[in-house]
Amino acid sequence: MALHDDIRSFTKKYKKNIETRTELNDKLFKICDQDKWLKTLKNRAVRCQKLYKDNEKLISGLNSKLCGELSDKAGEALFSSIFDVFFDRFEISDVPIIILLCRTAAEHFEKKKDYNRLVRIYAFLTYCNMEYYSRIRVEERDKTIEYAKKTISFKEHYAELDDPEARLRIFRTYANLMGNVLEEHTGLRDGDFSVYDEMMALWSSETVQKMDGNNSDIRNEVEWMKDNMVYVCARNLLDYRTVHSEEIRNSEIAFIKEKLEEHDKDIEKNTICWIADMTLKIINSEITPLDAIHKVIMKTDAIAKPDFEKLTPEENCDILDEKYMMMELSVAVLRKMDFTEKERTEYGRQITFRFFKDIHKIPNNLFTNYVDDICKEYFSMVRPFLNGVGEKEQKLMQIFFLRQPLTYIHCLLVGSLAYRLGSAIIEKNPEMLVGLGELDSIKDVISKENGILDFVRRAGLIHDVGEIIMPTIINMQTRSLTEDEKSFILKHPEIGVEYLKEDTDFEPYRDVILGHHKSYDGKSGYPAGFDNTASPYRVIIDIISICDALENAEDYISRAYKEPKSFDEIFREICEGAGTTYNPYIADMIKNDDALRKELRFIVTEGRIKATQEVYRNIVTCVQYGGSPYFRLNAVDMVNDG
Ligand SMILES: [Fe+2]
Ligand SMILES: [Fe+2]
Repeated sequence: MALHDDIRSFTKKYKKNIETRTELNDKLFKICDQDKWLKTLKNRAVRCQKLYKDNEKLISGLNSKLCGELSDKAGEALFSSIFDVFFDRFEISDVPIIILLCRTAAEHFEKKKDYNRLVRIYAFLTYCNMEYYSRIRVEERDKTIEYAKKTISFKEHYAELDDPEARLRIFRTYANLMGNVLEEHTGLRDGDFSVYDEMMALWSSETVQKMDGNNSDIRNEVEWMKDNMVYVCARNLLDYRTVHSEEIRNSEIAFIKEKLEEHDKDIEKNTICWIADMTLKIINSEITPLDAIHKVIMKTDAIAKPDFEKLTPEENCDILDEKYMMMELSVAVLRKMDFTEKERTEYGRQITFRFFKDIHKIPNNLFTNYVDDICKEYFSMVRPFLNGVGEKEQKLMQIFFLRQPLTYIHCLLVGSLAYRLGSAIIEKNPEMLVGLGELDSIKDVISKENGILDFVRRAGLIHDVGEIIMPTIINMQTRSLTEDEKSFILKHPEIGVEYLKEDTDFEPYRDVILGHHKSYDGKSGYPAGFDNTASPYRVIIDIISICDALENAEDYISRAYKEPKSFDEIFREICEGAGTTYNPYIADMIKNDDALRKELRFIVTEGRIKATQEVYRNIVTCVQYGGSPYFRLNAVDMVNDG
């Protein structure tokens, strides 16, 4: 078969497989009958394993063919594969494939100096890299910025770009660069608006005005950028993190004022103008704290509610954006202005809890990355208003549950296994826990049993918190992971610790989150720089590491990429690794205790089914009926009672 036919056939087959996977996942959210649902889940696991094998073959086949020089026909086939298939039905899991296709295509069209196509390709690369990788590794932001700058560099050939879509993409790339990349990376927070200025200079240039002065798509893009800048200025002025020089502050105030003058009459209608107007009132002390917060609450309530049945995804996205901006403003008001501690907590809870009601209704499979980002930020915002580690754990798990039900089930089961193993240790070998924290004798361990078990259970529940900010695809895979993806996974312990580092309530859990993938002897596993053998929490790390391994056993319902192993098989592996990978005393203890082994096995078999049923029943209720998620965080109860 000629290469161009190969490319077409690959795209068709691969995309079909991805669609099948999406259908299989979507089905899960539509079934209410429990038996039917469990059957569907098992069927999904089997079908996904087949898809996985098929995709493996397809991808390695394509890889081997794309290494040589492309014919013109093959270049065309590649371009249309990217833009007729992947671009229109963009799926985050396709990104590594898209990047492979785009890079090959870029090389081909560079040689041909086909600027129209090069703009489209580099703009798409910018977008994909931003959506997929930038959330994980800071270095990837540099790559995204590089792609964005490459896209924008084609403005030198603006007059030669006869594809209007290519011209629009240059402006949209400026927006990407500002909105998602620069803002976090550098620049905007420091009052450096050079990207914005550069875009405005391009927009007002003679060539662009002549060709596109009346192009409504590009005009909208420019307006969006202006709005976005006003918002950034307002946020910088209120943000406690940014300490700007007087000069920058003044230029930000001037920028806002100019915009407000343009919109003099419809400040009430335009949320960003309303926020900007309120910001000026706050920094000029023209409004009292209570007045400000009441106005913000009223304004937030006046925003329409998202409706996932009647409105389009874009309309819902806009509503969520507005609500999110208002929540950011509320939190800034609470931080910046004078409130009593009681007022601050009460208003903070009221506002952030209300926002959560909106996000928990978002169907799990909708704009995954966007919502994942919001959830991640949301937790940081709500955290200061929560009471103690118990409530924080609850919120964190609600987020897990909403976005990554399979990770949530894993954590519930690890928590449950750890609780059971912990109580066996206290009963049979309490000396293992002496020296942990403030426990200085066996008597002490026994008298503090409840506190210890609570700690162990929670350690199991939150050990994988780093996965909350991983692209969801890593948990929903129907192809093997790329080297990049594998290296992301190795980062989840560090990402988890980084995420919770500002919160002293989570401090005691730090070593478990960081060390649960290290071997018992500290010689292998990751992260390499962390010495688990020197940790005062070493024994807890060892418990979680064994439970993490045991949780993989008997998983016939959610693992999509490989056949599950039996409990006995996994336990045999643990015994073989005793002393090197796993704590030998704990391994021995399980080996010599038939009743304990039976209970642990029960947790990963019947317990898994119960936990899974409960989690999905919750999702179906949440998404279909808009109810609040109901949580039984004590997985031990969830697993043991009917
Ligand atoms: Fe992990
Ligand atoms: Fe885990």
